[in-house]
Parts: sequence; C-alpha cells; structure tokens
Amino acid sequence: MTDVPSLVKQLDALLAEALGEVSAASDGDALEGVRIRYLGRKDGRISGVLRQLGALDPADRPAVGAAANRVKARLEEALDEAAAALAAPEDAGRALDLTLPGREPWSGGRHPVTRVMDEIYEVFRDMGFSRARGPEAETEWYNFEALNTPLDHPAADEQDTLYLRDSVLLRSHTSPVQIRTLESHEPPIRILAPGWVYRRDTYDATHTPAFLQVEGLVVDEGISFVDFKATLAEFARRMWGPGTRIRLRPSFFPFTEPSAEVDVKRVVTAPDGTTSETDWLEIMGAGMVDPAVLDAAGVDSERYTGFAFGMGPARIAMLKYGVDDLRTFFENDVRFLEQFVPGGLR
Ligand code: PHE
Repeated sequence: MTDVPSLVKQLDALLAEALGEVSAASDGDALEGVRIRYLGRKDGRISGVLRQLGALDPADRPAVGAAANRVKARLEEALDEAAAALAAPEDAGRALDLTLPGREPWSGGRHPVTRVMDEIYEVFRDMGFSRARGPEAETEWYNFEALNTPLDHPAADEQDTLYLRDSVLLRSHTSPVQIRTLESHEPPIRILAPGWVYRRDTYDATHTPAFLQVEGLVVDEGISFVDFKATLAEFARRMWGPGTRIRLRPSFFPFTEPSAEVDVKRVVTAPDGTTSETDWLEIMGAGMVDPAVLDAAGVDSERYTGFAFGMGPARIAMLKYGVDDLRTFFENDVRFLEQFVPGGLR
C-alpha cells in the first residue's frame, strides 16, 4: 500500500515506537542503536519508508516528504535530549557533595548610626529623659518664629530650607519639637527628640540633604547653667569613657542664650597601654533656653528656665568609628556596614 495516508501513518507509528525506545535507553550506546535502527541511511526503518516514495505519483511525494522530515526532526530532538540528560553530571538535587562548604545564613545587624542613636538614648534614659517626636513637615512658626528666629533670618531663606508650599516646610532641625513639647506638657520637662531633618545642601563627604538629629530639652524651676554643663559632661563620659572632657565654646543660636558649641576631648589607649588625648571635636550645639522661646510656647519664663541641645548622630558615628565620608552611611554597601557589627553579618 503506497498511498499518502498509509505512508504518513507508518511514519507516525515508527516515530511512536522509536520514542519509546529512546526513553528506555539507559546509556549512549543504546541511544546510538536507536538512531541507527530508525535513521540509518542504509537500513534505517524511516529511510525504508522513504524508499517507497518512488512508487508514488510525483504530485503526492512532497506531502510524504514533509511528514518524513517532521518525524525525523522530532526523533533527532528526542535523541539529543536523552543524550544530554545522560551526559549531565549526577543530578545535583540528589547527589550529596560532602566537600562543599556549608551555607551560612546572614544575620541582621544594626546600622552604625542606629547603634550610636541607641547609645545616646540609653545614656539620657538613665538620666530620666523620655522620648518625644514631632512632624517632619512643619510650619514656619514652629521651625523658626516660635524659636525666636525671624523669617528674614538667613536660615529661613529658600536657599537653605526646603519649602513644601507657602509657610509649610520640611523641618531644618529638630528644635520645633521643643515648642510642641512645651505647648503640650507642663514642666518639669526632660525629653530627647530624634528625627530626620532637611536642608538644601549638596550631597558630599560632610553634607547630606536629609540627616538625623537628636534634640534634648530640659525645662523646670531652678535649672541653671551648672545643670546644663553637668548633664552634657555626664553624657560625654558615658559615651566615650570616664576621662572624657567637654569644652563649651561661645556661639549663637536665636533660641538659646547663652549659646555654645560643645566639644569633646577623649582619652585613647594605644595597643602598648600608653594613653593620650584626642583633639577637641565638636559634637553639638546647645545653650540655655531663651525666655522668648518659653513665652512663645505659653510657658511662664519668670518661673521656669531650661537648656537645650541638638546633635547629629551620624557625625558622632563618624567620630566614633573614624569614618571620613558621611555618604557611606547612606549607600548601605554591606561590606562597609558589616564592619560595625561585632562578629560580622555572616
Ligand atoms: N537646632 C540647632 C541646629 O540644628 C542645634 C541646637 C539645638 C542648638 C538646641 C541649640 C539648642 O544647628
């Protein structure tokens, strides 16, 4: 029978048979045997079917030729796949290579700036401070005017401050939390207010347009300059060791009077045991709360006095860890960050 349908049927039957043999083949020799039996030029069974093409009407030949090509291609593909599977190394999921190093899970670690903030909180918590927060989007009143800073002060200029819309801005410091706390709480007040602040600054080794600050405020009856200096000296000793000294350098902030920049000098011990003092390093701005600030917040400035301070924990982390580029704290390269985690992240 050499009509087109019967030849195509024979070809498909051969293909089914051949595929069965391919999947039963357990090695390369067996596969090669299948190839020769079905596709061999001389005695291959598929070639044998094609030899009958001569008996067909020439007009019918292309249809059978196309079917033969399809069947050959499918069988060749199956043979190649089976050969590749046999050649592949032992299935990785099943084989157990005892010489492979174990998988070490990463463990989490606190960011160096977060560690410094936690240390700051701990020191002040021991001195009876609680935590306060305020919004990052502030009004000119809280960010400047209530803090005794007139709007024509350079700090209030659009050159320095990011305005969201008329009179609403991204706070340029955490000091507005002083006002919000004074408005909502009766003295005695002892708070620490951490948070993000924003300035129109370039992004370079010592400036970032967003950074963290920690604000401190103490207001009560009879708070004096002695309380102010003693609190900051205690903070410095707890942060950097008992030999640490502080120095107050006269400065100016509209919301404190007198105002100071606070510097620290640390005692460092060399590997051979000898000790020496570091240079003076600036850690914060501070001062006695200006009575105008208490008045603006509705607190009786005849009765109450206080002090305030503001510091940048990233700056303190730079001093603490000897980092000279602020940007490394933002870019979060794990190789940089893991240096600060005792025992590493892996
Ligand atoms: N707000 C000041 C700043 O951002 C720091 C400061 C806070 C100074 C509190 C005095 C008192 O530079």
